[in-house]
Amino acid sequence: MDRVRLGVIGCGRFCTSAIFPVLHLAPIALQAVCDMDEAKAQTAATAFGAPRWYGDHHRMLDAEQLDAVIVVIGPQAYPALAVELMRRGLHVYVEKPPARTSAEAAEMLRVSRETGRLCSVGFMKRFATGYRMARAISQTPEFGPVTFVEAKLTYGNFVPTWVERLTPNAFLLDHSIHHLDLIQHLAGPVDRVSTELADRGEGRLAFAVSLRFRSGAVGTLHLSSLESRGHPTERLHLVGVGQSVFVDNLLQVTHYRNAPLAGPERVLDLQRDAIRWEPNLTLPFIENSSLAHLGYVGEIQEFARAILGQGGGPPDIADGLAAIRLAEAIESSKGHTIAVA
Ligand SMILES: NC(=O)c1ccc[n+]([C@@H]2O[C@H](COP(=O)([O-])OP(=O)(O)OC[C@H]3O[C@@H](n4cnc5c(N)ncnc54)[C@H](O)[C@@H]3O)[C@@H](O)[C@H]2O)c1
Repeated sequence: MDRVRLGVIGCGRFCTSAIFPVLHLAPIALQAVCDMDEAKAQTAATAFGAPRWYGDHHRMLDAEQLDAVIVVIGPQAYPALAVELMRRGLHVYVEKPPARTSAEAAEMLRVSRETGRLCSVGFMKRFATGYRMARAISQTPEFGPVTFVEAKLTYGNFVPTWVERLTPNAFLLDHSIHHLDLIQHLAGPVDRVSTELADRGEGRLAFAVSLRFRSGAVGTLHLSSLESRGHPTERLHLVGVGQSVFVDNLLQVTHYRNAPLAGPERVLDLQRDAIRWEPNLTLPFIENSSLAHLGYVGEIQEFARAILGQGGGPPDIADGLAAIRLAEAIESSKGHTIAVA
């Protein structure tokens, strides 16, 4: 097998914007798509080159010879559907959040282990250019152990598709979960948290979270729906010992090293002065597209390679469970220190 034979369930806004457009960049043969709104399935099949479309996933699974299915519906559907697909012998990718509770995610993990099928989760920020660079920098011996993590993920007011209004729980699971995974990918498991919440009503809220990692590192998280979509919404700052790296709004990476003190003879020290990187977005190459910089290309490539046995370890439901457990601890803290389950 040199290509994963793929089916997709859920041809809505997000799949059409960020998943279908990157499939051709991975070792994938898109065989069929499905949406309960069959007209959407037909439109997606025509636009993205799937030979067949369906309005019911059982019909698709019975008719097609598939290796894997990508499901892009919402967390109300993922647990039961992922279990059904894995029990049919298929590898699965679900978008975030993989479930609404840690109990549901734990069951998905149990079935993934029992069936030996991959249950990957759409934590694409791990593959975003800036965050990949920051991780690589933080893993060099000169950086020292990651000792402080400062992360911000904000947004404007929005309502996730699976709830009627934005609640603290829905905000953490639908929006903040990206950073709840990313910080643990960068600095290891979080051991305990203490959280303050400011809730202005009408879906406008902010969490300030202090973190203690199992490694001994500490950190803070700034999560809010108080800003606007046009405002820079992300920032990451990893501090080692004597060095640090910032990623501003995902695309600007600055690595601060042990710079020499300023003096009259000062010249640029190539070994110790800061390095700043940002992409040249005028270059029209795939690796420079926003879907690549945002991480969507990398996550789908990694998913396909893992199925083909070509290495790679995409984020999976164990990571999804860890992120949901962290969300649950943050929500229940209410000013107290809470151990993450
Ligand atoms: N990773 C990211 O950056 C990101 C961004 C936005 C959304 N998402 C996630 O993508 C998922 C989908 O969000 P969306 O905004 O595209 O929602 P959407 O409502 O636009 O799309 C969902 C689609 O699934 C279809 N559907 C629902 N139940 C179905 C079923 N049983 N069988 C077949 N089709 C079914 C619907 O008809 C709809 O077309 C959510 O999990 C969301 O959190 C991820």
